[in-house]
Amino acid sequence: MTMGFDLVLFGGTGDLAWRKLMPALFQAFRHGTLPEGGRIIGVGRDDLTHEQYRALIQARFDKVELAKRPSAEEFARFAAILEFVRMDLSKPEDYAHLATSLQTRSATTVVMYVATAPSLFTTVCEQLAAAGLNTPQTRVVLEKPLGHDLASNRAINQTVRRFFEEKQVFRIDHYLGKPAVQNLFALRFGNALFEPLWRREHIANIQITIAEDLGVESRGAFYETTGALRDMVQNHALQLLCAIGMEPPINAHADAIRDEKLKVLRSLKPWTAATLASDVVRGQYASGTSAGTPVPAYRDEPGVNPHSQTETFVALRTEIANWRWAGVPFYIRTGKRLAGRDARIVVNFRPTPHAIFNASSAMGNQLVINLQPKDGLELHLLAQGQDNRKTRASAAQALAPVQLDLDFDKRFGSERVGAYERLLLDVIDGRLNLFVRSDEQEEAWRWVEPLIKHWASDAQGPRPYAAGTWGPSASSAMIARDGFCWDEES
Ligand code: BG6
Repeated sequence: MTMGFDLVLFGGTGDLAWRKLMPALFQAFRHGTLPEGGRIIGVGRDDLTHEQYRALIQARFDKVELAKRPSAEEFARFAAILEFVRMDLSKPEDYAHLATSLQTRSATTVVMYVATAPSLFTTVCEQLAAAGLNTPQTRVVLEKPLGHDLASNRAINQTVRRFFEEKQVFRIDHYLGKPAVQNLFALRFGNALFEPLWRREHIANIQITIAEDLGVESRGAFYETTGALRDMVQNHALQLLCAIGMEPPINAHADAIRDEKLKVLRSLKPWTAATLASDVVRGQYASGTSAGTPVPAYRDEPGVNPHSQTETFVALRTEIANWRWAGVPFYIRTGKRLAGRDARIVVNFRPTPHAIFNASSAMGNQLVINLQPKDGLELHLLAQGQDNRKTRASAAQALAPVQLDLDFDKRFGSERVGAYERLLLDVIDGRLNLFVRSDEQEEAWRWVEPLIKHWASDAQGPRPYAAGTWGPSASSAMIARDGFCWDEES
Protein backbone atom coordinates (compact mmCIF):
# COMPACT_ATOMS: atom_id res chain seq x y z
CA MET A 1 0.00 0.00 0.00
CA THR A 2 1.29 3.49 -0.81
CA MET A 3 1.65 5.69 2.25
CA GLY A 4 2.70 9.28 3.00
CA PHE A 5 6.26 10.31 3.65
CA ASP A 6 9.19 8.71 5.43
CA LEU A 7 11.62 11.17 6.95
CA VAL A 8 14.89 9.51 7.85
CA LEU A 9 16.91 11.66 10.18
CA PHE A 10 20.63 10.82 10.14
CA GLY A 11 21.99 12.41 13.30
CA GLY A 12 18.70 11.56 14.98
CA THR A 13 20.26 11.73 18.44
CA GLY A 14 22.36 14.82 17.67
CA ASP A 15 22.16 18.37 18.88
CA LEU A 16 20.28 19.71 15.84
CA ALA A 17 17.64 17.00 16.10
CA TRP A 18 16.96 17.82 19.75
CA ARG A 19 17.15 21.58 19.51
CA LYS A 20 15.54 22.35 16.15
CA LEU A 21 14.25 19.48 14.06
CA MET A 22 12.09 17.52 16.48
CA PRO A 23 10.50 20.67 17.96
CA ALA A 24 9.81 21.93 14.41
CA LEU A 25 8.32 18.60 13.33
CA PHE A 26 6.17 18.60 16.42
CA GLN A 27 4.91 22.13 15.67
CA ALA A 28 3.96 21.06 12.15
CA PHE A 29 2.21 18.02 13.63
CA ARG A 30 0.38 20.22 16.13
CA HIS A 31 -0.65 22.70 13.43
CA GLY A 32 -1.98 19.88 11.32
CA THR A 33 0.35 20.78 8.45
CA LEU A 34 2.50 17.65 8.58
CA PRO A 35 1.01 15.43 5.88
CA GLU A 36 -0.99 12.51 7.21
CA GLY A 37 0.43 9.02 7.20
CA GLY A 38 4.03 10.10 7.69
CA ARG A 39 6.79 8.42 9.63
CA ILE A 40 9.87 9.99 11.22
CA ILE A 41 12.78 7.61 11.61
CA GLY A 42 15.65 8.77 13.79
CA VAL A 43 19.00 7.18 12.98
CA GLY A 44 21.84 7.01 15.48
CA ARG A 45 24.62 4.79 16.77
CA ASP A 46 23.00 4.09 20.11
CA ASP A 47 21.18 0.86 20.76
CA LEU A 48 17.71 2.21 21.38
CA THR A 49 14.24 0.78 21.01
CA HIS A 50 11.55 2.96 19.46
CA GLU A 51 10.17 3.49 22.95
CA GLN A 52 13.52 4.56 24.38
CA TYR A 53 14.01 6.99 21.51
CA ARG A 54 10.56 8.50 22.05
CA ALA A 55 11.29 8.86 25.76
CA LEU A 56 14.55 10.67 24.99
CA ILE A 57 12.76 13.09 22.71
CA GLN A 58 10.02 13.68 25.21
CA ALA A 59 12.61 14.48 27.88
CA ARG A 60 14.29 16.98 25.53
CA PHE A 61 11.03 18.79 24.94
CA ASP A 62 11.33 20.04 28.52
CA LYS A 63 14.00 22.43 27.23
CA VAL A 64 11.74 23.87 24.56
CA GLU A 65 9.88 27.11 25.34
CA LEU A 66 6.66 26.46 27.22
CA ALA A 67 4.19 27.39 24.48
CA LYS A 68 5.85 24.91 22.13
CA ARG A 69 5.92 21.96 24.53
CA PRO A 70 3.51 19.10 23.91
CA SER A 71 1.09 17.95 26.56
CA ALA A 72 1.39 14.26 27.49
CA GLU A 73 -1.58 13.47 25.26
CA GLU A 74 -0.17 15.44 22.31
CA PHE A 75 3.20 13.78 22.68
CA ALA A 76 1.63 10.34 22.72
CA ARG A 77 0.01 11.07 19.35
CA PHE A 78 3.22 12.53 17.93
CA ALA A 79 5.27 9.60 19.30
CA ALA A 80 3.17 7.18 17.27
CA ILE A 81 4.95 8.36 14.10
CA LEU A 82 8.46 8.23 15.61
CA GLU A 83 10.75 5.28 15.13
CA PHE A 84 14.42 4.59 15.64
CA VAL A 85 16.96 2.66 13.57
CA ARG A 86 20.43 1.97 14.86
CA MET A 87 23.11 2.46 12.22
CA ASP A 88 26.85 2.72 11.86
CA LEU A 89 27.00 5.04 8.89
CA SER A 90 30.17 3.45 7.55
CA LYS A 91 28.62 -0.05 7.31
CA PRO A 92 26.87 -1.07 4.07
CA GLU A 93 24.86 -3.75 5.87
CA ASP A 94 23.25 -1.10 8.05
CA TYR A 95 21.96 0.70 4.95
CA ALA A 96 20.61 -2.57 3.65
CA HIS A 97 18.77 -2.95 6.94
CA LEU A 98 17.39 0.59 6.56
CA ALA A 99 16.27 -0.22 3.02
CA THR A 100 14.36 -3.22 4.32
CA SER A 101 12.59 -1.18 6.95
CA LEU A 102 11.65 1.46 4.35
CA GLN A 103 10.38 -1.17 1.92
CA THR A 104 7.79 -2.24 4.45
CA ARG A 105 5.60 0.55 3.19
CA SER A 106 6.84 2.25 -0.03
CA ALA A 107 6.20 5.82 0.98
CA THR A 108 5.44 8.34 -1.75
CA THR A 109 8.29 10.55 -0.55
CA VAL A 110 11.41 9.50 1.28
CA VAL A 111 13.38 12.35 2.85
CA MET A 112 16.96 11.61 3.88
CA TYR A 113 17.90 14.42 6.25
CA VAL A 114 21.67 14.31 6.75
CA ALA A 115 22.21 16.21 9.99
CA THR A 116 25.59 14.61 10.69
CA ALA A 117 29.17 15.83 10.70
CA PRO A 118 29.87 17.11 7.15
CA SER A 119 32.69 14.58 6.82
CA LEU A 120 29.97 11.92 6.54
CA PHE A 121 27.91 13.55 3.77
CA THR A 122 29.61 11.81 0.89
CA THR A 123 29.70 8.44 2.66
CA VAL A 124 25.99 8.64 3.42
CA CYS A 125 25.12 9.54 -0.19
CA GLU A 126 27.32 6.78 -1.61
CA GLN A 127 25.93 4.20 0.74
CA LEU A 128 22.34 5.24 0.16
CA ALA A 129 22.90 4.74 -3.55
CA ALA A 130 24.66 1.41 -3.03
CA ALA A 131 21.64 0.21 -1.04
CA GLY A 132 19.30 1.32 -3.83
CA LEU A 133 17.91 4.15 -1.76
CA ASN A 134 18.37 6.86 -4.40
CA THR A 135 15.02 6.33 -6.06
CA PRO A 136 13.07 9.14 -7.77
CA GLN A 137 11.02 9.38 -4.56
CA THR A 138 14.10 10.26 -2.51
CA ARG A 139 14.99 13.79 -1.39
CA VAL A 140 18.26 14.51 0.35
CA VAL A 141 18.58 17.33 2.85
CA LEU A 142 22.07 18.54 3.62
CA GLU A 143 22.76 20.72 6.63
CA LYS A 144 25.45 23.34 6.64
CA PRO A 145 28.42 23.53 6.75
CA LEU A 146 28.77 21.98 3.32
CA GLY A 147 32.53 21.78 3.22
CA HIS A 148 35.10 24.16 4.64
CA ASP A 149 36.28 25.76 1.40
CA LEU A 150 35.50 25.80 -2.30
CA ALA A 151 37.31 22.55 -3.08
CA SER A 152 35.65 20.53 -0.32
CA ASN A 153 32.25 22.03 -1.15
CA ARG A 154 32.67 21.07 -4.79
CA ALA A 155 33.76 17.57 -3.85
CA ILE A 156 30.59 17.09 -1.80
CA ASN A 157 28.39 18.52 -4.55
CA GLN A 158 30.04 16.31 -7.16
CA THR A 159 29.45 13.17 -5.14
CA VAL A 160 25.86 14.11 -4.41
CA ARG A 161 25.30 14.83 -8.11
CA ARG A 162 26.52 11.34 -9.05
CA PHE A 163 23.58 9.81 -7.23
CA PHE A 164 20.87 12.45 -7.09
CA GLU A 165 19.48 15.03 -9.47
CA GLU A 166 19.74 18.67 -8.39
CA LYS A 167 15.98 18.80 -7.88
CA GLN A 168 16.29 16.07 -5.26
CA VAL A 169 18.85 17.97 -3.19
CA PHE A 170 17.73 20.40 -0.49
CA ARG A 171 20.66 22.41 0.90
CA ILE A 172 19.51 24.06 4.07
CA ASP A 173 20.23 27.62 5.03
CA HIS A 174 17.75 28.09 7.83
CA TYR A 175 17.90 31.89 7.48
CA LEU A 176 15.92 31.51 4.25
CA GLY A 177 13.16 29.88 6.27
CA LYS A 178 12.83 32.80 8.67
CA PRO A 179 9.50 34.59 8.25
CA ALA A 180 11.27 37.96 7.99
CA VAL A 181 13.25 36.79 4.97
CA GLN A 182 10.12 35.64 3.20
CA ASN A 183 8.59 38.99 4.03
CA LEU A 184 11.57 40.66 2.45
CA PHE A 185 10.74 38.85 -0.79
CA ALA A 186 7.10 39.89 -0.33
CA LEU A 187 8.08 43.50 0.33
CA ARG A 188 10.30 43.67 -2.71
CA PHE A 189 8.39 41.62 -5.25
CA GLY A 190 4.79 41.78 -4.03
CA ASN A 191 4.69 45.56 -3.66
CA ALA A 192 5.67 48.14 -6.22
CA LEU A 193 6.31 50.88 -3.67
CA PHE A 194 9.99 50.41 -3.00
CA GLU A 195 11.19 49.10 -6.34
CA PRO A 196 11.82 52.52 -7.95
CA LEU A 197 13.84 53.50 -4.87
CA TRP A 198 15.76 50.25 -4.65
CA ARG A 199 18.91 51.39 -6.39
CA ARG A 200 22.05 53.44 -6.23
CA GLU A 201 20.35 56.75 -6.99
CA HIS A 202 18.37 56.56 -3.74
CA ILE A 203 20.22 54.26 -1.39
CA ALA A 204 23.38 55.39 0.41
CA ASN A 205 24.34 52.08 2.01
CA ILE A 206 22.93 48.82 3.30
CA GLN A 207 23.91 47.19 6.59
CA ILE A 208 23.34 43.55 7.42
CA THR A 209 23.87 42.67 11.08
CA ILE A 210 23.52 39.23 12.60
CA ALA A 211 24.51 39.65 16.22
CA GLU A 212 24.38 36.95 18.85
CA ASP A 213 24.77 37.51 22.57
CA LEU A 214 25.67 33.89 23.23
CA GLY A 215 29.21 32.56 23.05
CA VAL A 216 30.19 29.27 21.45
CA GLU A 217 28.52 27.32 24.27
CA SER A 218 29.38 23.64 24.02
CA ARG A 219 30.46 23.85 20.37
CA GLY A 220 34.03 25.04 20.98
CA ALA A 221 35.69 22.12 19.18
CA PHE A 222 33.46 22.56 16.09
CA TYR A 223 33.83 26.33 16.10
CA GLU A 224 37.62 26.19 16.33
CA THR A 225 37.82 24.83 12.79
CA THR A 226 34.90 26.90 11.52
CA GLY A 227 34.90 30.51 12.73
CA ALA A 228 32.39 33.26 11.98
CA LEU A 229 33.27 33.59 8.30
CA ARG A 230 32.43 29.97 7.49
CA ASP A 231 29.69 29.64 10.10
CA MET A 232 27.68 32.76 9.27
CA VAL A 233 29.05 34.92 6.44
CA GLN A 234 29.50 32.33 3.67
CA ASN A 235 25.89 31.24 4.06
CA HIS A 236 23.38 33.21 6.16
CA ALA A 237 24.77 36.73 5.64
CA LEU A 238 25.37 36.26 1.91
CA GLN A 239 21.90 34.82 1.44
CA LEU A 240 20.47 37.93 3.10
CA LEU A 241 22.60 40.08 0.85
CA CYS A 242 21.23 38.21 -2.16
CA ALA A 243 17.64 38.71 -1.01
CA ILE A 244 18.26 42.45 -0.64
CA GLY A 245 20.31 42.91 -3.80
CA MET A 246 18.79 40.53 -6.37
CA GLU A 247 16.80 41.60 -9.41
CA PRO A 248 13.10 40.69 -9.47
CA PRO A 249 12.89 37.05 -10.63
CA ILE A 250 10.75 36.30 -13.68
CA ASN A 251 8.46 34.10 -11.58
CA ALA A 252 8.34 32.52 -8.15
CA HIS A 253 9.85 29.19 -9.20
CA ALA A 254 12.92 27.97 -7.41
CA ASP A 255 15.30 28.26 -10.33
CA ALA A 256 14.14 31.74 -11.28
CA ILE A 257 14.88 32.91 -7.73
CA ARG A 258 18.14 31.04 -7.51
CA ASP A 259 19.33 32.36 -10.89
CA GLU A 260 18.94 35.91 -9.58
CA LYS A 261 20.69 35.17 -6.31
CA LEU A 262 23.55 33.58 -8.22
CA LYS A 263 23.96 36.75 -10.30
CA VAL A 264 24.37 38.80 -7.12
CA LEU A 265 27.07 36.47 -5.85
CA ARG A 266 28.84 36.64 -9.19
CA SER A 267 28.68 40.45 -9.10
CA LEU A 268 30.31 40.84 -5.69
CA LYS A 269 33.48 42.88 -6.00
CA PRO A 270 36.47 40.56 -6.03
CA TRP A 271 38.91 41.00 -3.18
CA THR A 272 42.23 42.71 -3.85
CA ALA A 273 45.30 43.05 -1.62
CA ALA A 274 44.11 46.56 -0.76
CA THR A 275 40.52 45.64 0.13
CA LEU A 276 41.66 42.59 2.09
CA ALA A 277 43.62 44.99 4.25
CA SER A 278 41.02 47.73 4.54
CA ASP A 279 37.54 46.30 4.06
CA VAL A 280 37.39 43.41 6.49
CA VAL A 281 37.81 43.19 10.24
CA ARG A 282 38.02 39.96 12.18
CA GLY A 283 37.68 39.82 15.92
CA GLN A 284 37.63 37.37 18.80
CA TYR A 285 35.79 37.91 22.05
CA ALA A 286 37.72 38.51 25.23
CA SER A 287 36.08 38.19 28.63
CA GLY A 288 33.32 40.65 29.45
CA THR A 289 29.70 40.59 30.49
CA SER A 290 26.55 39.24 28.97
CA ALA A 291 23.25 40.49 30.43
CA GLY A 292 25.20 41.72 33.44
CA THR A 293 26.92 38.39 34.13
CA PRO A 294 30.69 37.97 33.69
CA VAL A 295 31.52 35.61 30.84
CA PRO A 296 34.84 34.05 29.82
CA ALA A 297 36.97 34.86 26.79
CA TYR A 298 36.63 32.67 23.70
CA ARG A 299 40.07 31.20 24.40
CA ASP A 300 38.87 30.02 27.81
CA GLU A 301 35.81 28.23 26.45
CA PRO A 302 35.75 24.40 26.60
CA GLY A 303 37.28 22.77 23.53
CA VAL A 304 39.07 25.95 22.42
CA ASN A 305 42.82 26.30 21.96
CA PRO A 306 44.13 28.87 24.50
CA HIS A 307 46.09 30.49 21.63
CA SER A 308 43.27 30.20 19.12
CA GLN A 309 43.30 32.48 16.07
CA THR A 310 39.70 31.63 15.17
CA GLU A 311 37.48 34.64 14.53
CA THR A 312 34.21 35.01 16.42
CA PHE A 313 33.41 38.30 14.67
CA VAL A 314 33.58 39.53 11.09
CA ALA A 315 32.69 42.92 9.67
CA LEU A 316 33.22 43.59 6.00
CA ARG A 317 32.41 46.02 3.25
CA THR A 318 31.56 44.96 -0.25
CA GLU A 319 29.78 46.16 -3.36
CA ILE A 320 27.53 44.55 -5.94
CA ALA A 321 29.14 45.62 -9.18
CA ASN A 322 26.16 46.05 -11.51
CA TRP A 323 24.02 48.90 -12.85
CA ARG A 324 21.59 48.88 -9.94
CA TRP A 325 24.14 48.96 -7.16
CA ALA A 326 27.48 50.27 -8.45
CA GLY A 327 29.21 52.26 -5.71
CA VAL A 328 26.72 51.45 -2.92
CA PRO A 329 28.52 49.92 0.06
CA PHE A 330 27.01 46.80 1.59
CA TYR A 331 28.29 46.17 5.09
CA ILE A 332 28.01 42.78 6.72
CA ARG A 333 28.63 42.24 10.41
CA THR A 334 28.20 39.12 12.51
CA GLY A 335 29.60 37.84 15.75
CA LYS A 336 29.18 35.94 18.97
CA ARG A 337 29.05 37.56 22.40
CA LEU A 338 27.95 40.87 20.99
CA ALA A 339 25.79 43.44 22.77
CA GLY A 340 22.54 41.60 22.08
CA ARG A 341 20.71 39.06 19.96
CA ASP A 342 19.78 41.16 17.04
CA ALA A 343 19.51 40.38 13.35
CA ARG A 344 18.43 43.18 11.04
CA ILE A 345 19.01 44.73 7.68
CA VAL A 346 19.14 48.51 7.53
CA VAL A 347 18.61 50.25 4.22
CA ASN A 348 19.86 53.83 4.50
CA PHE A 349 18.35 56.12 1.88
CA ARG A 350 20.11 59.21 0.67
CA PRO A 351 19.22 62.52 2.29
CA THR A 352 17.16 65.12 0.45
CA PRO A 353 19.16 66.65 -2.40
CA HIS A 354 18.45 70.17 -1.19
CA ALA A 355 17.77 71.08 2.45
CA ILE A 356 15.06 73.54 3.34
CA PHE A 357 14.64 72.27 6.89
CA ASN A 358 17.26 72.32 9.61
CA ALA A 359 20.22 69.97 9.85
CA SER A 360 18.12 66.96 10.83
CA SER A 361 16.80 66.76 7.29
CA ALA A 362 20.31 65.80 6.25
CA MET A 363 19.46 62.44 7.86
CA GLY A 364 18.25 60.09 5.22
CA ASN A 365 15.22 57.88 5.69
CA GLN A 366 15.75 54.34 6.83
CA LEU A 367 14.01 51.07 6.22
CA VAL A 368 14.81 48.52 8.90
CA ILE A 369 14.01 44.89 8.29
CA ASN A 370 14.05 43.19 11.69
CA LEU A 371 14.68 39.46 11.58
CA GLN A 372 14.99 38.71 15.29
CA PRO A 373 14.19 38.94 18.11
CA LYS A 374 11.61 41.31 16.60
CA ASP A 375 10.16 40.33 13.27
CA GLY A 376 8.90 43.27 11.31
CA LEU A 377 9.56 46.44 9.38
CA GLU A 378 10.29 49.97 10.51
CA LEU A 379 10.26 52.96 8.22
CA HIS A 380 12.08 55.94 9.69
CA LEU A 381 10.87 59.32 8.48
CA LEU A 382 11.12 62.92 9.59
CA ALA A 383 8.02 64.73 10.76
CA GLN A 384 7.02 67.92 12.42
CA GLY A 385 6.08 66.57 15.78
CA GLN A 386 7.60 68.99 18.26
CA ASP A 387 5.73 71.62 20.15
CA ASN A 388 7.42 74.78 18.97
CA ARG A 389 5.11 77.23 20.71
CA LYS A 390 7.54 77.83 23.55
CA THR A 391 10.73 77.92 21.52
CA ARG A 392 9.04 79.92 18.79
CA ALA A 393 11.14 77.83 16.46
CA SER A 394 9.98 78.09 12.93
CA ALA A 395 8.52 75.04 11.27
CA ALA A 396 11.75 74.80 9.37
CA GLN A 397 13.66 74.01 12.56
CA ALA A 398 11.36 71.51 14.13
CA LEU A 399 11.70 68.22 12.28
CA ALA A 400 11.93 65.14 14.43
CA PRO A 401 12.55 61.48 13.60
CA VAL A 402 9.43 59.30 13.72
CA GLN A 403 8.84 55.75 12.64
CA LEU A 404 6.19 53.55 11.10
CA ASP A 405 6.39 50.23 12.82
CA LEU A 406 5.00 46.98 11.50
CA ASP A 407 5.28 44.10 13.93
CA PHE A 408 4.59 40.85 12.08
CA ASP A 409 4.34 38.84 15.29
CA LYS A 410 1.50 41.07 16.46
CA ARG A 411 -0.10 41.22 13.04
CA PHE A 412 0.01 37.52 12.23
CA GLY A 413 0.57 36.08 15.71
CA SER A 414 -0.10 32.38 15.91
CA GLU A 415 -0.09 31.92 12.15
CA ARG A 416 3.69 32.41 12.09
CA VAL A 417 5.69 29.38 11.07
CA GLY A 418 9.22 28.85 12.42
CA ALA A 419 12.16 28.53 10.03
CA TYR A 420 12.77 24.80 10.42
CA GLU A 421 9.07 24.02 10.41
CA ARG A 422 8.66 25.86 7.11
CA LEU A 423 11.74 24.23 5.57
CA LEU A 424 10.86 20.71 6.67
CA LEU A 425 7.37 21.04 5.22
CA ASP A 426 8.86 22.40 2.00
CA VAL A 427 11.13 19.38 1.71
CA ILE A 428 8.24 16.98 2.24
CA ASP A 429 6.20 18.88 -0.35
CA GLY A 430 9.14 19.16 -2.76
CA ARG A 431 9.37 22.99 -2.87
CA LEU A 432 12.91 24.14 -3.52
CA ASN A 433 12.46 27.94 -3.39
CA LEU A 434 14.03 28.36 0.02
CA PHE A 435 16.97 26.03 -0.55
CA VAL A 436 20.38 26.80 -1.94
CA ARG A 437 21.51 25.46 -5.31
CA SER A 438 25.01 24.04 -5.65
CA ASP A 439 26.23 26.81 -7.96
CA GLU A 440 25.13 29.50 -5.49
CA GLN A 441 26.93 27.74 -2.73
CA GLU A 442 30.11 27.33 -4.75
CA GLU A 443 30.05 30.98 -5.78
CA ALA A 444 29.73 32.02 -2.13
CA TRP A 445 32.71 29.88 -1.23
CA ARG A 446 34.68 31.30 -4.14
CA TRP A 447 34.06 34.80 -2.83
CA VAL A 448 35.03 34.13 0.81
CA GLU A 449 38.05 32.02 -0.01
CA PRO A 450 40.51 34.92 -0.47
CA LEU A 451 39.67 35.96 3.10
CA ILE A 452 40.37 32.49 4.41
CA LYS A 453 43.72 32.40 2.58
CA HIS A 454 44.65 35.93 3.64
CA TRP A 455 43.95 35.22 7.29
CA ALA A 456 45.91 31.99 7.21
CA SER A 457 49.07 33.98 6.47
CA ASP A 458 48.24 37.21 8.28
CA ALA A 459 50.34 37.53 11.42
CA GLN A 460 48.02 40.08 13.00
CA GLY A 461 45.31 37.58 14.00
CA PRO A 462 41.80 38.51 15.12
CA ARG A 463 41.35 41.72 17.12
CA PRO A 464 40.09 41.19 20.67
CA TYR A 465 36.80 42.74 21.74
CA ALA A 466 35.14 42.68 25.13
CA ALA A 467 32.19 40.29 25.34
CA GLY A 468 28.94 42.24 25.41
CA THR A 469 30.08 44.96 22.98
CA TRP A 470 29.60 45.52 19.25
CA GLY A 471 33.01 44.07 18.32
CA PRO A 472 36.41 45.64 17.71
CA SER A 473 36.55 49.41 17.21
CA ALA A 474 38.15 48.77 13.82
CA SER A 475 34.67 47.74 12.61
CA SER A 476 33.35 51.27 13.31
CA ALA A 477 36.48 52.79 11.81
CA MET A 478 35.97 50.78 8.61
CA ILE A 479 32.47 52.13 8.05
CA ALA A 480 33.39 55.65 9.22
CA ARG A 481 35.90 55.88 6.35
CA ASP A 482 32.91 56.02 3.99
CA GLY A 483 31.31 58.74 6.11
CA PHE A 484 28.72 56.37 7.64
CA CYS A 485 28.25 54.63 10.95
CA TRP A 486 26.62 51.44 12.15
CA ASP A 487 22.95 51.76 12.83
CA GLU A 488 23.21 51.73 16.63
CA GLU A 489 25.92 54.43 16.55
CA SER A 490 23.73 57.02 14.86
C1 BG6 B 1 23.92 28.47 12.80
C2 BG6 B 1 25.32 28.65 13.30
O1 BG6 B 1 23.91 28.20 11.43
O2 BG6 B 1 23.16 29.64 13.04
C3 BG6 B 1 25.33 29.01 14.78
O3 BG6 B 1 26.06 27.46 13.10
C4 BG6 B 1 24.44 30.20 15.03
O4 BG6 B 1 26.65 29.28 15.24
C5 BG6 B 1 23.07 29.99 14.42
O5 BG6 B 1 24.33 30.38 16.43
C6 BG6 B 1 22.23 31.25 14.51
O6 BG6 B 1 20.92 30.96 14.12
P1 BG6 B 1 19.69 31.79 14.69
O7 BG6 B 1 18.53 31.28 13.95
O8 BG6 B 1 19.64 31.53 16.16
O9 BG6 B 1 20.03 33.22 14.41
